[in-house]
Amino acid sequence: MTQFVKTRRDGAVLEITLDRADKKNALTGAMYDAMTLALSVANDEAGIGAVLFQGSGGVFTAGNDITDFLAHATSPQRGFGESPAMRFIKALAGAQKPMIACVDGIAIGIGTTMILHCDFTVASPRALFHTPFVDLGLVPEAGSSLLLPQRIGPVKAAEMLMLGKKVDAEEALKIGLINEIVDTDNVAAHTLDLARAVAAKPRGAMLAARRLMHGDKAKLLARIEEESRMFAEALQSDEARTAFMNFMARGKG
Ligand code: COA
Repeated sequence: MTQFVKTRRDGAVLEITLDRADKKNALTGAMYDAMTLALSVANDEAGIGAVLFQGSGGVFTAGNDITDFLAHATSPQRGFGESPAMRFIKALAGAQKPMIACVDGIAIGIGTTMILHCDFTVASPRALFHTPFVDLGLVPEAGSSLLLPQRIGPVKAAEMLMLGKKVDAEEALKIGLINEIVDTDNVAAHTLDLARAVAAKPRGAMLAARRLMHGDKAKLLARIEEESRMFAEALQSDEARTAFMNFMARGKG
């Protein structure tokens, strides 16, 4: 297990904290696996009524660890389809308890796409949502090619997913990507209060309402599979390899 993901029970809330601030909470395979395990515990434990995701050090997450991407890009035998990231994405799609995200600072790549699976997102004024998949030679993941247009409309989704436009907290609120903005000093406590309130509602009715709102997941799961196939192909491309090498080499000369 990794020390970079911390889980903590606060009554009926399961908190999942990304704790790798020196690397901007970039997600390694072990971190995805820790989050997948936490979601599975949340599904199974009747006492858990809500899951809360948060970052640390003024960062939500800089997305997938680019060193891991590079390893996939240079080792074709290492498939992405059954990777820890894919297991986490499927766990998000299959999560049964309400999920709440507290986004303080940058939320890049899966940092943004994972909140599309969350029922509520609270952000600080310095939150920044960025999905630079195309710029990295990649394609959208986590069902975001389906969920983001549904959430904010196809026009704004194209700006984010195709142009890699960065969206700040104010705009995220305006376009319906997040629920609310709370000042930086209070955002964590406020989001925990929200998670507690969600978890305190009549559990059966809450879970049933959520199931109804999420509806049939078949289309989402099919899209996740399709994205995963295309993502795996894109990871092997010269475009992606070049983008990853450029990131690794930045500031070195
Ligand atoms: N994967 C691996 N390491 C990452 C990372 C990532 N996604 N994001 C940041 N880091 C590491 C940096 O390599 C650096 O490590 P070092 O101190 O050992 O050199 C450390 O985190 C701090 O990042 P740095 O780039 O110095 O901070 P910054 O404030 O100048 O920029 C970001 C922060 C997040 C804007 C920038 O790091 C970035 O663009 N990261 C890549 C984001 C990305 O494309 N993710 C993939 C999405 S699909």
